[in-house]
This record gives sequence, C-alpha cells and structure tokens, in this order.
Amino acid sequence: MSARRVAILISGGGSNMAALVRSMTGDHPARPVVVLSNDPEAGGLARAREMGVATAAVDHRRFGDRAGFEAALQDALAPHMPDLLCLAGFMRILTPGFVTAWKGRLLNIHPSLLPLHPGLHTHARALAAGDVEHGCTVHEVTERLDHGPILGQARVPVLPGDTEASLAARVLEAEHRLYPTVLRRVAAGDRTPPCLA
Ligand code: GAR
Repeated sequence: MSARRVAILISGGGSNMAALVRSMTGDHPARPVVVLSNDPEAGGLARAREMGVATAAVDHRRFGDRAGFEAALQDALAPHMPDLLCLAGFMRILTPGFVTAWKGRLLNIHPSLLPLHPGLHTHARALAAGDVEHGCTVHEVTERLDHGPILGQARVPVLPGDTEASLAARVLEAEHRLYPTVLRRVAAGDRTPPCLA
C-alpha cells in the first residue's frame, strides 16, 4: 500500500506538528504532505518549511462565516490530496459540514484526559479540580467538540507546587509521544483499542 498522505492543521508554534513530521520517516505508513494554518503568522509554518514540508495559510479573518473559511480550507488542501487530517493546536471550531466531509479521517489532540476538561484552559481546570493526574487525548473529530472516539491517551502526574505552566509543559511532552504513536497506528489501519502511551 502506498504511504498515507497526512495534512496537519495548526494555529500556533506547531510543536506537535514537528513531532508528527519527525515521526513520518523510514517504514512509517504515512508521509506529511502539507502544513496548513488559519494564521499566516503562525510560528509552525516556518518550522514546517525548515523541515521540508509544503505550507499554506488560509486567514480565517478574511471570511465572514465559518462555511466560507472552510471552503477555502478545502481548496487549499485539495491539491495535496490528503488521506488523513491531523489537527495539532488548531484553534478554530469546525462545522458539522467540514467534519462530515472528513469523517473517520480527522484526528485531534486535546490537552486533557477526555472526557475530563473539554474546551479551553484545561491545565488551570485540572489544577482547580484538584486532579491528581492529567494528560492528553488523541481522538477522532466528530460534530460534538472534544467528544469523538478516543484513539489514545497519555497520563502525567499533577505534582505538588505545579503551576499552569509547569503542568502544561509536562503534558506537552506527553503529547509529543502520544500523537506520533497514535498516528502510526491509525495510518496502518488499526484504530480499534485505545492505547495508553
Ligand atoms: C497543544 O497543547 C494542543 O494539545 C493544544 O494546543 C497546544 C498546541 O501546541 N490544542 C488545543 O487546545 C485544541 N483545543 P503546539 O502548537 O506546540 O503543538
């Protein structure tokens, strides 16, 4: 089977994107074909180019509604013919129309142990809740935000004296291990049991 073609969508620095790109070499069943951002200034775009991956930007602020933005996103993706879309710190909510078009081929990484703490400010919320462990989740994207089938989770301890920043850094390290592990499995066609990385 030829390599699965992976597009990665980012909004920021792209450290998860970089971890995914780095992983897709050798006998990996997938290859990165494009890194796309809704923010033309996203630091991850330059990082992707340095890693030899094509980039594109579709500035969401140029569009009056989500549907227009997403139509432009589809147009930017089309020439790269991706099989899989990985959201990696992509901070735009996608409409049911877009999600349906990519059903079963759209992954996201979220910085909490879903179903705990969907949405934003997950590290602050884990601290406020007194959680003793925290972590990250890779899941299939469905119409309900941060609620799709879980493909993998990685756990980290919450330590005495943790701040939002220290906890975020620990979770981010775990994200960089988890997302490549799950992508490799999914690209190989295996998405049955959730894995704990
Ligand atoms: C990551 O922690 C990712 O889980 C989070 O944004 C960060 C992006 O970092 N995503 C979300 O919060 C999605 N709702 P990165 O740009 O360095 O990969």
